Amino acid sequence: MLDPMLDTTPSVPHSPQVSHPDTTAVGPAIEQRRKLVTELPGPRSLELAARRSAAVAAGVTSVMPIFAARAGGGIVVDVDGNSLIDFGSGIAVTTVGNSAPDVVARVQQQVEEFTHTCFTVTGYEGYVAVCEELNRLTPGDHEKRSALFNSGAEAVENAVKIARRATGRDAVVVFDHAYHGRTNLTMAMTAKNMPYKDGFGPFAGEVYRAPMSYPFRDPEGMTGAEAAARAIAVIESQVGVQNLACVVIEPIQGEGGFVVPAPGFLSALADWCTRNVVVLIADEIQTGFARTGDLFACDFEGVVPDLITTAKGIAGGLPLSGVTGRAELMDSVHGGGLGGTYAGNPVACAAALGAIATIESQNLVAAAGRIGEQILAVLTDLATKHPQIGDVRGRGGMVAIEIVTPGTRTPDPVETARISAACHRAGLITLTCGTFGNVLRLLPPLVIDDDLLADGLAVLSDAIAGRQ
Ligand SMILES: Cc1ncc(COP(=O)(O)O)c(C=O)c1O
Repeated sequence: MLDPMLDTTPSVPHSPQVSHPDTTAVGPAIEQRRKLVTELPGPRSLELAARRSAAVAAGVTSVMPIFAARAGGGIVVDVDGNSLIDFGSGIAVTTVGNSAPDVVARVQQQVEEFTHTCFTVTGYEGYVAVCEELNRLTPGDHEKRSALFNSGAEAVENAVKIARRATGRDAVVVFDHAYHGRTNLTMAMTAKNMPYKDGFGPFAGEVYRAPMSYPFRDPEGMTGAEAAARAIAVIESQVGVQNLACVVIEPIQGEGGFVVPAPGFLSALADWCTRNVVVLIADEIQTGFARTGDLFACDFEGVVPDLITTAKGIAGGLPLSGVTGRAELMDSVHGGGLGGTYAGNPVACAAALGAIATIESQNLVAAAGRIGEQILAVLTDLATKHPQIGDVRGRGGMVAIEIVTPGTRTPDPVETARISAACHRAGLITLTCGTFGNVLRLLPPLVIDDDLLADGLAVLSDAIAGRQ
């Protein structure tokens, strides 16, 4: 039987008064309004779940129990006709929204022209054009080169390969709470064991971990410069500069808990890398392409990394990633040393050109700033009323709350899961993260409209207060 709370229109608490068609979508517009017409999951999703458990490996799980039918703007419509607000963007991917018109048009045209030649067999313009865009947009006005790959992890692996080849050294430094992917090298670089690494070893060698600047958990008042000095002391004593190829860092950590380092941490680390001729690799796979209210999170402190890895928001949902960096480093690799069958696929490149054009024409950098202000205002207010919110942090469209036992800094993953489940039941897609599983993160598409964002935040407020 249907829960009357969930039935028809307007059916859920905090339905916004105004509902907008999604003008960013191609095809019939998706109404930008949360609407539940069944319990979640509905009957069609349940049928698909049964097929899924018989066909799909158990290790591949999904946060939400629903199956998607369409998506656009800030809405995901499931196979039962429920419209859910998307505060996850497919883990920070659909920055320009799902099926953004410029992405769709360019992809359609490219699919009709050709789908694959393999860039290492026959070049094509789209690949070159994406590299030109990456060289133009990433921090620093030095001469750059780019290379394209399929996934974020693949980009990180290749950035490390390039740094090792350029320096002739082996060691790689990463940080506590880091997430860099699920391939063998990137599992070694990722901090959290469960679920990413457990039972999957042995891992690649020559990967060393340094302490991250984590203001909520560091000694009170520790500055960015002090946190950098702490990390550098570990690197110098436990690795040795003469062995070190690269330092790899997320300017704001993603899966590790949206950890925003104290001001000055990143720039002190960058200065040390420059002085010691160590390659600084910024992993901007989650933070890049307008997500944080700058085009890249490094821009915030004016840090110019030697290499930068990008993926996720780069191509509106198609699989593409890149490594961009100083020409002399990138060009130190022998011919044929970089590549892959699908790396820089022409359809994904066409999508990237559409996504980049959309980010620029719709000024999604500014949109991220506005979204961040709206979210932070609500969350900061909630933190004054609900002592389980230990910390509110983030920038632009990348904001999180850390949930703790009230009055302590002890992580509370159970309460985090409760809040998240309440959001899901009410039709709001939210994700959790953090080394301790106690961070609730918000990553809405940057084309989400204000009313929908406000409705999503109202659902979250109710969930935190235990009203749903
Ligand atoms: C900072 C960062 N690096 C690397 C990755 C790995 O990307 P992918 O899942 O595309 O391999 C992710 C994915 O979440 C990420 O957030």
